Amino acid sequence: MSFQVIGTGSAAPACVKTNDDLSQFLDTSDEWIRTRTGIGERHVCTTETMSDLTEWAAKRALEDAGVSPQELDLILCSTVRGDYMTPSQACVIQKRIGATCPAFDVNAACSGFLYALDVADGYFARKKVKKVLIVSSEVLSRLADWTDRSTCVLFGDGAGAVVLEEGDDLLSLRLTADGNWESLVIPQVHGNCPFDETQEEDPFLRMNGQDVYKFAVTNMAADLKCVIEEAGLTCEQVDFVLPHQANIRIIEAAAHRLPIPREKYVVNIEHYGNTSSASIPMMLDELNREGKLKKGDILAMSAFGGGFTTGAGVLRW
Ligand code: ACO
Repeated sequence: MSFQVIGTGSAAPACVKTNDDLSQFLDTSDEWIRTRTGIGERHVCTTETMSDLTEWAAKRALEDAGVSPQELDLILCSTVRGDYMTPSQACVIQKRIGATCPAFDVNAACSGFLYALDVADGYFARKKVKKVLIVSSEVLSRLADWTDRSTCVLFGDGAGAVVLEEGDDLLSLRLTADGNWESLVIPQVHGNCPFDETQEEDPFLRMNGQDVYKFAVTNMAADLKCVIEEAGLTCEQVDFVLPHQANIRIIEAAAHRLPIPREKYVVNIEHYGNTSSASIPMMLDELNREGKLKKGDILAMSAFGGGFTTGAGVLRW
């Protein structure tokens, strides 16, 4: 495989809302949310836009990598919805940081970061690029129905970014999709064409939480095991597991099924909630900034999301 990570960055909006804050206007409680999900608080965009979050995360990753925007050969952004349908969020990032390379978005719901890594891997393999910026960013607070306690409490906003250059540190990568569109849906803008006879759906995120829960519990441990084996490694050789942060119980269930000590699982859901495709690169940046990563460390990643998609991979630091 064909790249290494040379820089990371992340950004989250300033406003933090605790479970108690939400219980002021929703029939919910800190106790319910914490015990069912592990979430204590989440960052929520107020004055910030996704363009702000992606710009900040991108600039931090470039600074960490010591790479200038002009050196980039490709910008990828994973998101379920950027600030605009067009231009892509990646083009907005390009303009905001002053880069000139091709740029486009990748949407694989919460698995988007892993899908973007796979796209980048193809560009490196074809020798089309030397430096790539990936930014994964989500503002699900603006897609959730804030009158629906079963969904809005789960999500938070944020962005995570990585800069890649040629190397051989991606040891394995596995993507799947099964075409499920009923269990987790965010409808698109309908428009007002007078000839359109289809029915307008309500505009908010809708989820069958138990369907997603079952899918995730079944797949996360199996995917991790598979990519660790494909990398030619054993579970014992893994230094950190970066699981998508959707629900602490899903992470615990995966941890229970694999011979990897629980303390190797990185968890920040308590402070960020579910930030969809941004969750893994945000955790990676957190580990990097805190100086917890040593050269050669083995990182196993696993995500699942709407579609249903999954993405898992093993990266050497
Ligand atoms: N506060 C209080 N009560 C609530 C809340 C809330 N915020 N939300 C739901 N409830 C109630 C329900 O109304 C229900 O009440 P009832 O029994 O009177 O009908 C009761 O709690 C139980 O509801 P369930 O939906 O059965 O609760 P469950 O234990 O399944 O937990 C949850 C729900 C947390 C959503 C869980 O199913 C889950 O985490 N699923 C996975 C979700 C996920 O991973 N989503 C994102 C993946 S994709 C992506 O990241 C975009």
